[in-house]
Amino acid sequence: MRRFLDLADFERDEISALLELARRLEKCPEPHALAGKILGLLFFNPSLRTLASMQAGMARLGGTSFVITPGQGTWQLETKLGAIMNGAAAEHVREGIPVLASYCDALGIRAFADGKDLAYDLAETNFNAMAELVDKPLINLESAANHPCQALADWKTMDDLQVPRGGRFVLSWAYHPRPLPLAVPSAAVHMAAMRGMEVIVARPEGFALPPMIMDKARKAAARSGGSVRETADLTDALQGADIIYAKEWGSTAHYGDVAGDARLRAELQSWCVRNDWFAKAASECRLMHCLPVRRNTAIADEVLDSPRSIVQREAYNRLVVQTAVLYQMLKGV
Ligand code: CP
Repeated sequence: MRRFLDLADFERDEISALLELARRLEKCPEPHALAGKILGLLFFNPSLRTLASMQAGMARLGGTSFVITPGQGTWQLETKLGAIMNGAAAEHVREGIPVLASYCDALGIRAFADGKDLAYDLAETNFNAMAELVDKPLINLESAANHPCQALADWKTMDDLQVPRGGRFVLSWAYHPRPLPLAVPSAAVHMAAMRGMEVIVARPEGFALPPMIMDKARKAAARSGGSVRETADLTDALQGADIIYAKEWGSTAHYGDVAGDARLRAELQSWCVRNDWFAKAASECRLMHCLPVRRNTAIADEVLDSPRSIVQREAYNRLVVQTAVLYQMLKGV
């Protein structure tokens, strides 16, 4: 494997094999498998799980890693092509990224959406321009419209808990005081469709997922036997749910328009997941969220602290599945 950028780049049986490898390494660790290998990690945005789990995964396989957070102890890096660099950035990624890639055996990059132009972000303009500069194996640590490491961990989490392949997966919008990117909802809806689930996106008016994201998920569902639909009727969506996957994202009707987005979301504070969301769900229905989460804003304490919540297992599985990605990428078996 040279690149891990999007689950859609893989066949379903390749994902199954990767998850099998993850389970094998979880049970039988190989602490010297990647001895002498170096992973570079370039974070343009903050992280807790991705940063720690990538470093821990590399260390557990006997390799090492270095972390660059531009502007924090290193030069600030410019990402825009054609930029006139008379501002804070001292170096362009066109020089910086090849330099970093030359120091390591694989590179991971986190670069969130700009959040100004939907088409620009959905096209992964920034991430793709950086990916072209990397001549080593590359991992997407969350780009404008994708988070494949999270999606793979979420898939394994549902397998661990024997959530039915054809079960109902409700991706529900959840309240947040600010607009957040589309990377996780996009990756989650595609992952669940690829897994073969009945996927329902429940969101208020003005927060519809872009057609490009829905079409990609529908294409995956057509191959897996799943289905994908979207609704503003939360009560209907939650009926019979096996998974409620809560996620905050910005208004797509007001993308890049912070004031317009704020006007819409001001009325939506009831979209905080509470116990009563599970009243008509399947009896074993679980709550998923990628974290970080704002308690009693997106999800109430009563749910996060209940046995329904599997957010800790999702976060733990980030380590498990990324270990498999690194192993396959750098050991090549
Ligand atoms: N879920 C996730 O990617 O967490 P971090 O932003 O903390 O890495």
